[in-house]
Amino acid sequence: LTRERYSVRRLPFSVVSEDDLAALERIVPGRVVTDPEELEAPNVDWLRTVRGSSKVLLRPRTSQEVAHILRYCHERNLAVSPQGGNTGMVGGSTPVFDEIIVSTTLMNQIVSFHNVSGVLVCQAGCVLEALSRYVEERGFVMPLDLGAKGSCHIGGNVATNAGGLRFLRYGSLRGTVLGLEVVLADGTILNCLTSLRKDNTGYDLKQLFIGSEGTLGVITAVSILCPPKPSAVNVAFLGCPGFAEVLQTFCTCRGMLGEILSAFEFMDAECMKLVGLHLRLACPVQESPFYVLIETSGSGAGHDAEKLSGFLEQVLGSGLATDGTLATDQRRIKMLWALRERITEALSRDGYVYKYDLSLPLDRLYDLVSDLRARLGLHAKHVVGYGHLGDGNLHLNVTAEAFSPSLLGTLEPYVYEWTARQQGSVSAEHGLGFKKKDVLGYSKPPEALQLMQQLKALLDPKGILNPYKTLPTRT
Ligand code: FAD
Ligand code: MLT
Ligand code: ZN
Repeated sequence: LTRERYSVRRLPFSVVSEDDLAALERIVPGRVVTDPEELEAPNVDWLRTVRGSSKVLLRPRTSQEVAHILRYCHERNLAVSPQGGNTGMVGGSTPVFDEIIVSTTLMNQIVSFHNVSGVLVCQAGCVLEALSRYVEERGFVMPLDLGAKGSCHIGGNVATNAGGLRFLRYGSLRGTVLGLEVVLADGTILNCLTSLRKDNTGYDLKQLFIGSEGTLGVITAVSILCPPKPSAVNVAFLGCPGFAEVLQTFCTCRGMLGEILSAFEFMDAECMKLVGLHLRLACPVQESPFYVLIETSGSGAGHDAEKLSGFLEQVLGSGLATDGTLATDQRRIKMLWALRERITEALSRDGYVYKYDLSLPLDRLYDLVSDLRARLGLHAKHVVGYGHLGDGNLHLNVTAEAFSPSLLGTLEPYVYEWTARQQGSVSAEHGLGFKKKDVLGYSKPPEALQLMQQLKALLDPKGILNPYKTLPTRT
């Protein structure tokens, strides 16, 4: 699949031998997976668009084991592909050829939680939803949330610098991650696992690894700041007659809800059609060209409800929204969020998905979707737009019955050139992984690319960490 679709050549790494398997078995006894059936799923990405041919997967439990693995692989010139929950959207977590998969599945221990500061320290393989549950029982929340929470690992979240549904309120992991422990390519353990809010001692090395997609080191532990759990959460779901009204609603919302606004997401009518068709989720408001999901989180239920009803009156009265519904109880809140969170799943059931994750100026955010719909006509099954509007992040997705090189040719480089003209980003939150590594140049100047290559060469001189990913192929 991968090699037919993408032109990529195997680099001259060693091939795993029987001796290597015996050595690895000594490092992680009983946790060297070579059964082809068990290797099937970790070789394929969540979107089922790339497939590797790894014959070995390792399941370390400790940072020391990861260090031993990397020291050995470094010495033997064996390539490694770090893998968390394997929910990434850009083919970063699956091997391209026969790289050894280093899975964090068994690294799922919580190290400490401080119930005054809210600082959580845990191993990289903890599943996001399990962490959420753990801190919520103690009166806190994780500063990030995403549709893949049931499977993704915190290490994978940090490695991709995942944005998600709480970005508007709590900001990037670049702010909430306080410290990291990372194993470098040669097996050195870099312990920067501090829990300090402020620490300006030299360069902030953890930032290098946040968003580095497994190409600079393997993240083994994370220290992260959890905010207090808001006692009052409300969700409003609105139908809007046009994209201009969506933007106006956002402005009104920021003005009237200000400090309690915690999410502003949008989806178009095509998305609603697909979640209805493939997941049997019902639209909770009158059919509209656009829908927005607004969440408020605060500390005074009465105060928040009053503010929200004032806002709803305003947008419904002025025609910015044509219909709306409000949820204050957990069950209905979850139901409304499902409409937005499960779009990804609905799309994957619709066929082959061409996925674009763009940062664009708000006033042009939807233009590309309309433009492509007209441009593609019947060549595409569906062209949809949704995303984290409050963060200027559009998810533009195109589905088709099957992968088609000619449809791809119509989409690319058109989408990337369009984005570059708006000074946007060709990857707002998903990273570049394998599928987007060659488009980095649309969003960064050559000098930045060169410095990135130099950093990679410094930290991983043999290039064994997640080869063929993130940085463009050097020609
Ligand atoms: P994987 O997919 O296993 O790996 C992702 C990358 O990180 C790979 O390059 C891998 O090599 C590397 N990696 C993994 N673990 C480590 C480690 N310990 N050390 C070093 N490198 C590592 N993303 C968003 O930003 N926002 C969203 O709202 C969002 N929603 C999603 C919803 C769904 C339904 C799905 C399927 C995905 C969504 N994503 C979203 C994609 C997102 O990137 C991932 O879900 C998540 O951050 C990846 O975590 P993971 O553990 O699955 O990592
Ligand atoms: C989302 O916001 O739903 C995720 O980033 C996944 C996707 O883009 O489909
Ligand atoms: Zn997203």
